[in-house]
Amino acid sequence: MAKLIVVNRSGEEQAVEGDNGLSVMEIIRDKGFDELLALCGGCCSCATCHVYVDPAFADKLPAASDDENDLLDSSDHRNETSRLSCQLTFNEALDGLRITIAPED
Ligand code: FES
Repeated sequence: MAKLIVVNRSGEEQAVEGDNGLSVMEIIRDKGFDELLALCGGCCSCATCHVYVDPAFADKLPAASDDENDLLDSSDHRNETSRLSCQLTFNEALDGLRITIAPED
């Protein structure tokens, strides 16, 4: 099973295993990281699943949709590595992906 490395808002890092086909948001939430609110449940309408993604994996991730891009623009904490974790489907190619939970807006 592929590993996802999650860095919480305190800077603590934890490696978790993730099932292929789940979204990165679902993996983070299911592992008990309650900082990631994911209020809309993955419908790409809340931006509370905002994470920063390791740039080394940028070319393995799908491009952000217009909806995702617009929502990220609503965050004061957007940077060039920002993504909505509910829009990222986890798979073996992402083994070792390191994501950081973005600050709350
Ligand atoms: S969970 Fe709401 S946009 Fe990702």
